[in-house]
Amino acid sequence: MSTPPIVVLGEAIPDDWLDSRVAEQHDLRVGLSAVHANERPRVVGLLTTLNTRIDARVVEQFPKLRCVSNMAVGYDNIDVSACAARSIPVGHTPGVLTDATADLCWALILACARGIVPAASDARHGRWGQWTPTGWLGRDLRGARLGIVGFGAIGQAVAQRGRAFRMEMVYANRSPRTEAALALDARALSLEELLTSADIVSLHLPLTDATRGLIDGAALARMQRHALLINTARGDIVDQPALLRALQSHQIAGAGLDVTSPEPLPPDHPLFSTANCLITPHIGSAAEGTRRAMAQLACENLLAGLQGLPLPKLVPELA
Ligand code: DGY
Repeated sequence: MSTPPIVVLGEAIPDDWLDSRVAEQHDLRVGLSAVHANERPRVVGLLTTLNTRIDARVVEQFPKLRCVSNMAVGYDNIDVSACAARSIPVGHTPGVLTDATADLCWALILACARGIVPAASDARHGRWGQWTPTGWLGRDLRGARLGIVGFGAIGQAVAQRGRAFRMEMVYANRSPRTEAALALDARALSLEELLTSADIVSLHLPLTDATRGLIDGAALARMQRHALLINTARGDIVDQPALLRALQSHQIAGAGLDVTSPEPLPPDHPLFSTANCLITPHIGSAAEGTRRAMAQLACENLLAGLQGLPLPKLVPELA
């Protein structure tokens, strides 16, 4: 009996989330370190998560690699050029996590705008005095300006929810998204105009050379003192030391971060002890149905790539 080809999963994924053909037709391993050097020629596919860095050196190790499938919409963990140089298709999972990520973004917006976490902590720890007119005052969202940086699917889903809160929506995007903007009643601004005027700035960009450190000290200095920054995209889009300074000096009012640099952020990191910063552990897509759908789409991409068929969701650079 011949030995089956190997597929490496970046992380353990529940069996029933995976297309059964992946396990039936392959020898599944979890983690690149689970493949011995002499087994590398048997590796045909990688089903990765954002924790698995696939750089040129990794690609080089697997001479028979036929597909890299990332279980995430973002794929900054993968050197796409190195894969393209070997004609290895790279898949990702856009669409299926749009709503879950927009929901989490809104959870952060609401939590930051209304001080949910400190208020709940006060209630739990005996600091719930008598109701007073000025106790735990947050801010009104109705009529406030929501600035969406990056108006792709997730940015648009955030705007859709913003309409229900009757906010004024503005967005900044490399290219105008006229139709979507019209449907969502969102107005295009330059990034500078958006930063200067928005009450809440929410980031929805991929991490690329062009967006790394985009929200730097100068960008934060443009924001209003009462403004909030929400990041559910990638930590490295923000210059984190500059953000820490801006929060500590109250140059901006607060931040809600689902992504940081690095991840996990060490518990003794000063951002954790900064009262006006709320951090969640990269849970934008962490809803069960969403994660299942991501795994399923990642399997579809993988199986297509292994059969030499077009991937349902190839990364845009290779499309
Ligand atoms: C993604 O898909 O890029 C998220 O960051 C993880 O779900």
